[in-house]
Amino acid sequence: MAAEVAAATAAHGGSFSRLESGSGVADADLVLTIIEDDAGPQPAAAPAPGDHATTDDNAILRGGCVPITRDGVVGEPEAAGEPEADESFRLSRDDGSVVVEAACDRGLLYGFFHVVRLGEAAFSGPDLVERHAPATAMRMLDHWDNVAVHAVMGQVERGYAGGSIFYDDGAVRADLSRVEAYARLLASTGINRVAINNVNVHAREARLLTDDLPHVARIAAAFRPWGIRVHLSVSFAAPMTLGGLDTSDPLDPAVADWWRDAADRVWAQIPDFGGFVVKADSEGQPGPFAYGRDHADGANMLAEAVAPHGGLVHWRAFVYDHRQDWRDRSTDRARAAHDHFAPLDGRFAENVIVQVKYGPMDFQVREPASPVLAAMPRTRVALELQVTQEYTGQQKHAVYLGRQWSEILDFDFTGPDSDGDADSASRIPSPTSVAGIVAPSGGIVAVSNVGDDEFWTGHPFAQANLYAYGRLTWDPAADAVGLLDEWISLTFPGAPADVVDALHTILDESWETYERYTSPLGVGFMVRPGHHYGPDVDGYEYTPWGTYHFADRDGIGVDRTVATGTGYAGLYPEPWASVYESLETCPDELLLFFHHVPYTHVLRSGKTVIQHIYDTHFEGVERVEEFVAAWERVLGSLSGDAMSDDDAARLAGRVSERLAEQRRSAIEWRDQINTYFYRKSGIPDEQGRTIF
Ligand code: GCU
Repeated sequence: MAAEVAAATAAHGGSFSRLESGSGVADADLVLTIIEDDAGPQPAAAPAPGDHATTDDNAILRGGCVPITRDGVVGEPEAAGEPEADESFRLSRDDGSVVVEAACDRGLLYGFFHVVRLGEAAFSGPDLVERHAPATAMRMLDHWDNVAVHAVMGQVERGYAGGSIFYDDGAVRADLSRVEAYARLLASTGINRVAINNVNVHAREARLLTDDLPHVARIAAAFRPWGIRVHLSVSFAAPMTLGGLDTSDPLDPAVADWWRDAADRVWAQIPDFGGFVVKADSEGQPGPFAYGRDHADGANMLAEAVAPHGGLVHWRAFVYDHRQDWRDRSTDRARAAHDHFAPLDGRFAENVIVQVKYGPMDFQVREPASPVLAAMPRTRVALELQVTQEYTGQQKHAVYLGRQWSEILDFDFTGPDSDGDADSASRIPSPTSVAGIVAPSGGIVAVSNVGDDEFWTGHPFAQANLYAYGRLTWDPAADAVGLLDEWISLTFPGAPADVVDALHTILDESWETYERYTSPLGVGFMVRPGHHYGPDVDGYEYTPWGTYHFADRDGIGVDRTVATGTGYAGLYPEPWASVYESLETCPDELLLFFHHVPYTHVLRSGKTVIQHIYDTHFEGVERVEEFVAAWERVLGSLSGDAMSDDDAARLAGRVSERLAEQRRSAIEWRDQINTYFYRKSGIPDEQGRTIF
């Protein structure tokens, strides 16, 4: 058995640390040979195929940096230093052997992982020829890691998996072996870009751009063999805070010079550096507004500095007034990104990517797709997701987000039944869907959920989110439930059927379950201010943050209609503007996002809003209780051929502890929400269940 395959399998499967000894697919005697056709030059960033070479020849990887067409015809060599190497590969089966061919090493790497993923299945069935290519070249993860431990946020902002894998003790770690393992695991899912520090750039972290560059170069070196480029979040005020200038005005030539020099220094040390991520004029971060400039002025100045190096600027669209007067019903945070950015369409440089959160608010369990994604056809836009479970249980609750992301990626701005729907057979996203808009443009970005925790992600099941995210960036049309099952089988290879069933039962419906016991019908938030964990219905109601539910004795919800509300619904193209505007057609799950209604309003499901709130909260807890029972039933089956007693005990301990907390928290949510709305409305539960 090839050691390299075993290693890659473990990394790939997501049993990333503790459960590695299981080995699974590696047991399938999969042996790979790489034949390097050095017919063409190798891009600097590409991994060396020899990294994985072994001697037998059950599977053959063939590559060199020469294009290979679908028919296997080798064309002209690709130019060296191409910013995006060809990542595609061709898989064929020939008399029991599997052959992977790729134009570039990057393609070989992905082909290699694909064969590992298929395991035995790669070698069985009729001979075939398949070509695989990522839907988008931009498949990125953002870490919100701080170098120093932040007084309020800890080391990783919204991190629920321990400290940072990059930094320790106020500096880049001397030992980056964990980062090397991480790079391998990300590559196995398809990720090819990583931003390594928090978008809120504090004083210590700003210096990653200057003093720490040699160490950033070490991190880049750890990622490079796995085809992953490193990016840095930078502070817009850096010319002042690091450069001693008295301004950061993007139109001031001295400021532009400072950034050009900074970029030159970065690329001198890291030739394949990806670019800068910027959170500007958002939640207190500095930006161009201070100088009367707009976001295009700010982004384009940086874009010019990085352009000679082929660099990118990811400019975040998460901009809103976080000092809003809660009495003011005309300001709507949901409108803000659209109001700021849509008018700038066409003004951003080619190497600027406007990075847009999937919903108009902030990574809630349910939000409509952000209308900004459809409003900037002349701008490169990226979709931003959140793998870290800030508002979805903080990796204490088992919540598989693959289905949420699939829904967003599939959302078609031309309507639910439009002709432009994705053709699932060809796996090409409809050009008017979210995936279809961002794939050829700015791609997909997400906030990472990884830390130095022994399971990488706090809750071992949160690894499923990391896995599904990477796989969806490669193929946004992939079936999210299929990806979940893929993760289960790769992470728990050889597990008995009852264990596999239990994992599926717990995770498959976990997103809807979380939605049931938390804030209802798309209204969002109702979390404890600051840390965002656990219920607090009015926690944000009288604050400046713009996240309100407006519940009173008669009703609840935010009127975002054009007719009587903030007009947000009108920011969508038709038919969505009308669908959301109307009480009759607005989907139930988003009703309170778009409308303020009486508690007695009858949903399309036939239930009143108040009864829906009671029912879903009781059901949500019941579902969590079923999760706990399902897990307890298989505790005795975890260890066996595929998992040592030690690994099984560690896994069981962590998962059981998390499920107990999920149950406790779900009950707390149920009782606070039900009690709150019973007291507000005075309407009893039709079923007479206990409400306090
Ligand atoms: C959320 C999150 C912050 C984060 C912000 C962002 O508001 O709570 O911690 O900084 O999103 O995306 O920039």
